[in-house]
Amino acid sequence: MFLSKWITRNTLLRYDSPMHGDRLNFKTHNPTVLAIFGATGDLTRKKLIPALFHLWQEKRLPPLFGIVGFSRRAHSDKEFQDYVSDIVKGIPGTFGDTAGFVSLFRYVQGLFEQGESYERLAELLGRRDKEWRTCANKLFYLAVPPQYYETLMQNLAASELTKPCSADEGWTRVIVEKPFGRDLATAEALDVLLGKLFKEEQIYRIDHYLGKETVQNILAFRFSNSFLEPAWDRRSIESIHVRSMESIGIEGRGEFYDGVGALRDVGQNHLLQLLALFTMEHPVQFTGDAIRKKRAEALRALRFVTRGKLPSFAMRGQYEGYRAESGVAPSSSTETYFSIRAFLDTPRWRGVPLYLESGKKLPEARAEVVVKFIHKTPCLCPPELGIHFQNVLRYEIQPDEKIRISFAVKKPGLGITIEEKDFSFSYRDAYRKDEFIDPHVHPYRKLLLDAIEGNQTLFVSTDEIRASWKFIDPIIERWTKKKSPLVIYKSGTTPQYES
Ligand code: BG6
Repeated sequence: MFLSKWITRNTLLRYDSPMHGDRLNFKTHNPTVLAIFGATGDLTRKKLIPALFHLWQEKRLPPLFGIVGFSRRAHSDKEFQDYVSDIVKGIPGTFGDTAGFVSLFRYVQGLFEQGESYERLAELLGRRDKEWRTCANKLFYLAVPPQYYETLMQNLAASELTKPCSADEGWTRVIVEKPFGRDLATAEALDVLLGKLFKEEQIYRIDHYLGKETVQNILAFRFSNSFLEPAWDRRSIESIHVRSMESIGIEGRGEFYDGVGALRDVGQNHLLQLLALFTMEHPVQFTGDAIRKKRAEALRALRFVTRGKLPSFAMRGQYEGYRAESGVAPSSSTETYFSIRAFLDTPRWRGVPLYLESGKKLPEARAEVVVKFIHKTPCLCPPELGIHFQNVLRYEIQPDEKIRISFAVKKPGLGITIEEKDFSFSYRDAYRKDEFIDPHVHPYRKLLLDAIEGNQTLFVSTDEIRASWKFIDPIIERWTKKKSPLVIYKSGTTPQYES
């Protein structure tokens, strides 16, 4: 309703000649507006604005592009632009005049639960369309806590902003932040809600790990290197360990984190996606649909050990002092660490233990996937390691973007001495420094552009979400109902069960 008032459909313009030179992709050609809900929050400040700034600097955004911030704080456009300008000044690599970028921003003050706020947004977007004499594409980014999704979506629908202008003019898409739901039931309910407004191809469920350079490289590593495939199964691999260790705590996010916990915060999404990429079958075609389908199949086959052995197969811990953090309940039993042993019920992986481990305030900050290969006998092994020698593949996601494989080598000399050394590949050594931007910002740069271009490969499908919650739900249920012990660990140590 509100929007249609502002659009004069017979004055639509097409933009066939890009103003930004050859970097432009035809898919990012048409006028587009990005509306960010939660525009003054942490995510927008730390990730979205820097990511958008990089895209602008690289001339990868559509020639006619606007960003509208929507938040409860009172700001004029000018004040919001000043806020953006301050953020931009702090971005490493900022050069030249940034005024053009800052001028892309407009602001709508509003409450998520208040219908009139959306009318103001619709009016602003309508004015934009009139000025541009087109019906711009609209990308809605929900950078807000999940409890607001329902109200927000309903109000957005009532404003008719979610309706595309026509089948081929002015698409609308929505980016939804994680966690998508807090269990299977709430994720399904959220899907039903989103499904009323958008088709699956308009919904972009973001998991920023999928946008990391090293994570995108996993499929290339597995499927472009033919020597790996024959060794990639239960006959050759002893175990796979997916870990994301952080040395920081919850950093003032107590209110959000205490209701979520480590398993929902990073396990259900980042770690399971890494595991899916390492264990999925060949997608045959490297299309978004085919890859998402294979990731979902892997997730559907996940099982964890039950039969009363939960504590040692799904351990949880909490760092000392967590309960005193702001926003955390004084008697909270929320986990800040977990370690889970799982299996994949497929012919390729049956019987291979898969470990998922993550936590805050641990001794080091490192995300990696460690694959241990089975040692065949007899082995010409380094004698000091003997039968314990193994080829170990360390796929390091961060802080170093490296792939290392330990292997046995004959030491130069007259005798035969076998030693353990590493094959090593480092992204940073192999490529120019300016080919990397902040690895915490790059994923958003990649994923925002993909959403504008309509590429869902690196976004999570509804099937993947369902499969991951089906795996996670029973663990959380057992932790809470069966009162599985919560290990309290000191900052800077790795929690252990006392035996
Ligand atoms: C976020 C979690 O999704 O991922 C945070 O909410 C976590 O708790 C972060 O710290 C880790 O991401 P990265 O990119 O810093 O490894």
